[in-house]
Amino acid sequence: MRISILAIESSCDETSAAVCKDGKILSNIIAGQKVHEQYGGVVPELASRAHIQNIIPVVDQAIKLANENLKSDPDSYREVDLKSIDAIAFTQSPGLIGSLLIGSQFAKSLALSLNKPLIAVHHMQAHVLANLIDDPKPSFPFLCLTVSGGHTQIVLCESPTKMKVIGETIDDAAGEAFDKTAKLLGLPYPGGPLIDKYAKDGDAFRFQFPEPQIPGLDFSFSGLKTSILYFLQNAGKSHIYKEQFLATEDEKNKFIKENLSDLCASIQQRIVSILLNKLKRASIETGIKDICIAGGVSANSGLRKALEEMGKKNNWNTFIPAFEYCTDNAGMIAITAYYKFHEGQFSDLTVSASARAEW
Ligand code: KG4
Ligand code: ZN
Repeated sequence: MRISILAIESSCDETSAAVCKDGKILSNIIAGQKVHEQYGGVVPELASRAHIQNIIPVVDQAIKLANENLKSDPDSYREVDLKSIDAIAFTQSPGLIGSLLIGSQFAKSLALSLNKPLIAVHHMQAHVLANLIDDPKPSFPFLCLTVSGGHTQIVLCESPTKMKVIGETIDDAAGEAFDKTAKLLGLPYPGGPLIDKYAKDGDAFRFQFPEPQIPGLDFSFSGLKTSILYFLQNAGKSHIYKEQFLATEDEKNKFIKENLSDLCASIQQRIVSILLNKLKRASIETGIKDICIAGGVSANSGLRKALEEMGKKNNWNTFIPAFEYCTDNAGMIAITAYYKFHEGQFSDLTVSASARAEW
């Protein structure tokens, strides 16, 4: 079936639109929001306002770029426009409610005015299915470690529309662990990509941070964060709180400045080992060897490299989405909607955005 879908993503602080035709992503436009940097985190009200400003130009650009890409094959070129689109997809949940409302109301208005079917998409399931955008694709069933700013999950994916969470964080998400420790190091938000950058020149085994012992396939990052906090407050003398080791603010800052690369590399190494040790356990328990990663933290170069190495050792087929499909993007919403379209999973106009999501 030849179908084209326009998809909209607005769950957090990226406004994105994508066009997908016959399961191929033709465009994936992403507008970030610089306004949050000065506050050290996403300010929900400001995010909603920025989505309102961005959404029409972003959709416009996505349709224009899709046509430019289609023109590269003049023989089969047929223009994509709002009238010829077969369905409108949007992120329904989970996310910031104000941000979700902008995307969902926009999508619903388009669907109503153009008389097109509407497809509501689960943001975390879409992160998993980002692995189905490019070739080679994983075979079902596969496991996906989904690591973002708000979630850390191991998902068992049996088909594009059937998946379940088999492990998840009991406190902070992996992205939060990166961002919060970056903040302790005095780095601006979002600190994950900066830890990645400085880690490249550092010694990952210079400082040893503890690996939590959590039963089963669940994760925990709050203990690691606390031990890094004490380590910095003690200017590297101890991981635990001891009054006699407490450094002055100047001593602490000097310690961070002189050891930034090694600190970033050691922190990144520990976060990555926590993630991959659980993923290995999940593979052993389920017997599944097609293993994917997804979500913003899957852009981390240490995680990507370590996954490939672990994959080689354990005979896994590993899959990592292209960078543009790792962090929040509408391409992953479009591909998820493509599979939902084939299964007739449409929503009516009463569907509403939701901050929390069931699986
Ligand atoms: O999936 P995403 O774009 O948004 C959410 O749905 O949360 O993930 C954002 C998270 C942030 O915590 C950000 O610091 C982290 O992904 N991140 C990274 C890297 N790029 C993005 N963390 C570590 N290394 C990176 N290269
Ligand atoms: Zn996300």
